[in-house]
Order: sequence, then structure tokens, then C-alpha cells
Amino acid sequence: MGRNNSVVVGLQFGDEGKGKIVDYLSGSFDVVAKYNGGSNAGHTVVTDDRTFKFHLVSSGSLSAKHVVLGNGMAIDPAILTEEIRSIKEYNHDVQIHVSRDAHVVTPMHKLLDVEEENVRGSLKIGTTAQGIGPAYEDKYARTGIRMEELGSVTDMTEKLKVILAMKGKLLSGTPYAEKKGLDSMVSGLHELGNGLKPFLCNTARKLHEFDNDGLELLFEGSHGTLLDIDHGMYPYVTSSNTIAGAISSGAGFSFRRIKNVIGVVKAYMSKVGSGIFPTEILGSEADRLRTEGNEYGTTTGRPRRVGWLDLKLLNYAIRLNDVDYLALTRVDTLGIFDTIRVVTGYGNPDEEFSPSDKNLEFQEFQGWGKLDNDKLADITRHGFNALPENLARYIDFIEKNVGRKINIVSVGSKRNLTINRSSVTGN
Ligand code: IMP
Repeated sequence: MGRNNSVVVGLQFGDEGKGKIVDYLSGSFDVVAKYNGGSNAGHTVVTDDRTFKFHLVSSGSLSAKHVVLGNGMAIDPAILTEEIRSIKEYNHDVQIHVSRDAHVVTPMHKLLDVEEENVRGSLKIGTTAQGIGPAYEDKYARTGIRMEELGSVTDMTEKLKVILAMKGKLLSGTPYAEKKGLDSMVSGLHELGNGLKPFLCNTARKLHEFDNDGLELLFEGSHGTLLDIDHGMYPYVTSSNTIAGAISSGAGFSFRRIKNVIGVVKAYMSKVGSGIFPTEILGSEADRLRTEGNEYGTTTGRPRRVGWLDLKLLNYAIRLNDVDYLALTRVDTLGIFDTIRVVTGYGNPDEEFSPSDKNLEFQEFQGWGKLDNDKLADITRHGFNALPENLARYIDFIEKNVGRKINIVSVGSKRNLTINRSSVTGN
């Protein structure tokens, strides 16, 4: 069994910087795997000379020997084809394993995503329009198309006709309601399926074999804990389980074989789409943070809502994932403020999520300023001891409040701008 099998999971609304942490750690692992979500996720990985944006494959794909996409994912075959091309260009010998049971996102699902949002009106979720919700709807309606079925024009057409009959109202007047339009989509999907066929396999069994062979496995959760379909802030959530425990169902790999649960938390918070955000900052302060942190969606380009770190929500996410230790990101961005706030409570200790921002309890900290190149060099050379005093105080306060160590701190977007005092060492 892999001695250090680990999972990296986001503890907020997504965009915590998981991509950077997974890429940084991936050098210590043989296999990187994803178990939920689809191209609604977006991970940015900055190597020394290039910036990669991944949606489907793990952010650790640039250095891993094996890249796995689990059965719990919803896969757009066109995007997967492109991502495989891009990682193989960089990581020539990588082996890709795509679950034959993962569900397919078709162009029709993308269109349905937009149509469903229109129908929702004021209940709009603000989805990424990547077709993820509709693809998972079909999965649970047991009419979904699985990756393996891309090989059969007949099977696909039959399923799509059922989906059309069920959702005809939303699709009427679109090209998919006509035989010509449907046939053309099916032949496009079939062609993509032929290209992807060599990568399809029983990934649950593969992962088990890798583990039995002593390979080290790193799982990457898509999105963030607060977007989990069951435990997030429903209905403003995504359509999959984003918590670490979903590895068991989304990859067919027992969660008991995972040694480390690493939770990624951004030094402040951000959110795309609608829904409750108790610690949201508005106005010019928000604009400043958004600009400094380049807080625009990786998938949609939408400006992200931003807010102060919420320790109530962080404690909730830590409990759900049973996090062992934390990776704190974006401290370089947050430091620019003279006064930094952290929310510690909502006035009512029984309240898990605050429905409003009326009774927020704050703790204030002084900023640590911009980290210039000399300071960054000092930090990467000397580690935690070289962190600015105000930042060390901020870290200490979070650790005490959540009862977990922050073992990894990211001080910039590049791979090397990371300090680490955990046993999982990174590159
Ligand atoms: P969907 O996943 O596209 O259906 O969108 C549902 C909600 O989750 C929307 O508010 C999206 O903005 C949000 N969302 C989905 N994936 C991510 C992500 O990776 N980062 C941040 N927000 C996300």
C-alpha cells in the first residue's frame, strides 16, 4: 500500500489554490487522480516558464507517471482531448487512465445548463454553463451516457432520444430537437470517443493495483467543500460531492487507504455565482483585493466575489473532511491591507452557516505589506522562521482557532514560492 496516499481538498468555495498545491506536492507521488466534477473546475498551474489552465485532469499531471480520471467525474470529451494533448507535450511519458464509467457531457448538456438557468429566474445559481448539472441529472435519472458508450452511435442515439423526450420543452427549437442536429452531435462525439478509446479502462481496479504495487497516490478534489451538493450551501452548490470522502464513490478507492487529508484554505475568501457569503467585502476594498489577487474565474472569466476569512466555515469544512493539516495560500495578496479581518463567529454559537452578515464577530490583524523579491527569497530559503511577524501572528491565530497546523504556506503563484513543514515534501 502507498505509505503516503493523500488527498488535497478545498475548504472554501473553490479557487483556494489547490492547483498550485497539488502541482507542488505531485513530485512525491506516482499517481494523481480526480474523483468528481468536470470542466466547471479550473486550476491554474504556473511552472517556471509556463502557465497551464486545467479543468479535467489533475493539476499534478505535469510530473506524475499516471493520471487518473475517476468514475465520479462528468467529462466533456472535447476538453479532455485537448488537455491530454497539452500535458503529453510537457510530460511525454505520462500514462492517462480514464474511467469507462465516467459520465459524458455533450454539447446538448451545455445548452441545457443555460436553458435551466433561464427557467430558474431569480433562483439562478450562476453556474459555469459547462453542462455539469444536466449531465449529473441524467446520471441520477439513469439515462446518462458513459464514456464507454461513445464507441456506439446506436447506444448514444438511443439515450439522447430519451433525454430529449424528458427535456423536450427546454430543447425544442434547438438543433438537437432535429434529427440532423442530433446525428451531427453524435458523430462528433463518436469521433472524439475513438480518439479517447485507448485511455479508457476500469480505473477503480487500476487504482487498487497501483496501491497494491506500493505506488503513492495523490487525489485532488474539484471545487470546494462549501460547494458540495449535500454539505455545501444548497442550492448554491455544484452537482457533485466535493468532500474528501467522495473518493470512495467517485474513484472506487477506499477512503481508509488515504493517509493524509490536506485542506487548502485561501488567506481570504472568494466565490463565483449566487448565494450566501457572510464575510463578503464590497466596494473599493473588494476591487483592490480582486485586482491584486487577479480574482477572475479560471473557467468563466467572471469577477469573483471576495471576502474575509471565515473561521466558522473553515471549522465546518475541516470537520467534514477530517483534515489532518492545512495549506494556506495567497498570503502575499492579503498582506497589502493595513487592517485585515477574520470572522470568528456569528453571534450564535449554534449557527453553522450565517444566513446574514448582521452579527459577525471579527478579530483584526495588521497587514504584513507587499512581499518583495528579497523577502520572498528569504522566506523560501529559511522557511517559517522568515515569515513577517504580522503574518506569523495571523497563522498562529488560525491554527489555534481550528486546532490544525498550517504546514504549507504559499507566498506566490510560482511552484517554488512555497514553504512546507509537513512529511509530504513536494518537489
Ligand atoms: P456548476 O458547477 O457549473 O453547476 O455551478 C454551480 C456553482 O458552483 C456556481 O456558483 C459556480 O460558480 C460554482 N463553481 C463550480 N465550480 C467551481 C470552481 O471550481 N470554483 C469556483 N466556483 C465553482
